[in-house]
Amino acid sequence: MTSTDPIGFICGTKGDSISFLVKKDVCLSFGQIVRIESGERSFYGRVVNSESSSTLELIEQLREAEGKEAFGPYSAYRSVDAILFLEKRLGKVRSPTFNPNYRDKVYTASEEDCSILRLSGELEVGRLRSEDQLLGSVGINIEAVPRMMGMFGMTGSGKTNTELILNAQIIDNSPKTVALIFDFAGQLLEGKEINPQRGLKDHPLFHSKVRYYSSRDGKMAVGLHTITPGKLDTLFPDIQPPQKRLAWALYKHLGAAWIENARETYRTGGNVEVRANKSAVEALMQKLASLPHDLFPPSNYTFIDNALQNVCKGVTCLVDISGLRSEDQNRIVCLLASAIAEHYKRVWEENYEEWRKLPTLLITLEEAHEFLDPNKPRTIFSDIALTYRKYRVGLNAVTPRPSRINFDVFAELWTKVIMKTELKKDRIYLTENTPYMEYSETEIKMLDVGEALLISEPKIKFAVPVKVAHYPEYLDKRGKADYELPDSLKLSEMDDRLKRLSGQGKLSLE
Ligand SMILES: Nc1ncnc2c1ncn2[C@@H]1O[C@H](COP(=O)(O)OP(=O)(O)OP(=O)(O)O)[C@@H](O)[C@H]1O
Ligand SMILES: [Mg+2]
Repeated sequence: MTSTDPIGFICGTKGDSISFLVKKDVCLSFGQIVRIESGERSFYGRVVNSESSSTLELIEQLREAEGKEAFGPYSAYRSVDAILFLEKRLGKVRSPTFNPNYRDKVYTASEEDCSILRLSGELEVGRLRSEDQLLGSVGINIEAVPRMMGMFGMTGSGKTNTELILNAQIIDNSPKTVALIFDFAGQLLEGKEINPQRGLKDHPLFHSKVRYYSSRDGKMAVGLHTITPGKLDTLFPDIQPPQKRLAWALYKHLGAAWIENARETYRTGGNVEVRANKSAVEALMQKLASLPHDLFPPSNYTFIDNALQNVCKGVTCLVDISGLRSEDQNRIVCLLASAIAEHYKRVWEENYEEWRKLPTLLITLEEAHEFLDPNKPRTIFSDIALTYRKYRVGLNAVTPRPSRINFDVFAELWTKVIMKTELKKDRIYLTENTPYMEYSETEIKMLDVGEALLISEPKIKFAVPVKVAHYPEYLDKRGKADYELPDSLKLSEMDDRLKRLSGQGKLSLE
């Protein structure tokens, strides 16, 4: 059977739900896309359920099972349910306005359908899965980046690989796009756990378009002199107003070195330079004492300035925060993300022309549930997800626990890559709170490693079954092109230059 043969025919429709009977040798899978030809319209639907049964009486079934009698090809059937999501009529594609007729023929999606569905994008995620075949490219557009994204899937489902694929292409598109990546497990540089092992350092543009920051080489430091009281909310989300007032008073009194001076006075005399309520002093000093010396040394150097400059130039920053205590991870992540996001906002407000030159930014945040949990203090990331769209700052919230993401933020993630998720609570949260996903709960449980459902509104308005590209294969296919060397001089120009130089009596080659 070829892909142009029908696989079955419609046996019933109701609203956007259709049922069809399939031929015996047909192989389908949950989530697969099918096309129904209905006169001048074609409909597209996703398989959501299937049932197989017998047309025989119980007694006849038993006789057939024992081999005593054969009832022919019509003794058993398989019916499949699908939900319509698209209609094509006179070359125009839109949401379904009607449904197919009884006996209309059903086909599996082909390469041609793939182009009708317009699934490809500048940032390729993978290819359309159709049963055991992989069809055309599926991807998202750069405009989708500031519309916020999420990647969800249990351990080993392929999240890190998908992050690598996406960020590699953000690097390829520099300086139009740039990435800020927080790596909690320290795996993205070398691609630990990716098999065969390949990381961002294997990307051909790594040396020119990526900077790596790690606490291990001492370069990830935030000098205490760069910390003004305004940043305390970011460092200590539970700080209270009296402590903030005290911090401002100390800052006015002591200047940039306020933290180290106040700490020293408190250590030796048990008090601080300005008069304040004892409990506020204690609480603030306890907080300031918890800033570790190696990450927060008494200096005015901060790696944040360096990272900000790089991001603005289109150089992706990979920030490896593995090995830090979790409070310090949170501090570094929030300080850096807010500095960069606020810079985009400020430039937008103060110098719009300059802002237009900034690359579109994607911030990849693993362990996103730690920063977007409604039961924890609010962080910059909920602000980014809710309000930074217009500044072209996008968030990619990566987590195995989507149900722990604040609902308002979750609703703002217009692009979702959903991978295998077994926990029922998470599956229900995903399907109930994502448009076009209401019938996909079982499917999410059955996905294999590297398989995903992709939604990217407003372009891709239904859950597309995708096989995500494997990062090592992506690198092999991409090859080692684009070192971006300046064009060499033409031979004739070089010749002229040499002649001029030798005429001057000295030969110097700059
Ligand atoms: N699209 C894919 N094609 C082929 N293999 C894949 C694909 N995606 C992931 N893998 C393989 O599956 C394994 C697990 O992938 P990955 O590390 O990306 O999962 P993860 O969801 O990030 O897991 P964890 O939650 O533990 O971090 C890796 O060995 C990787 O090479
Ligand atoms: Mg991972």
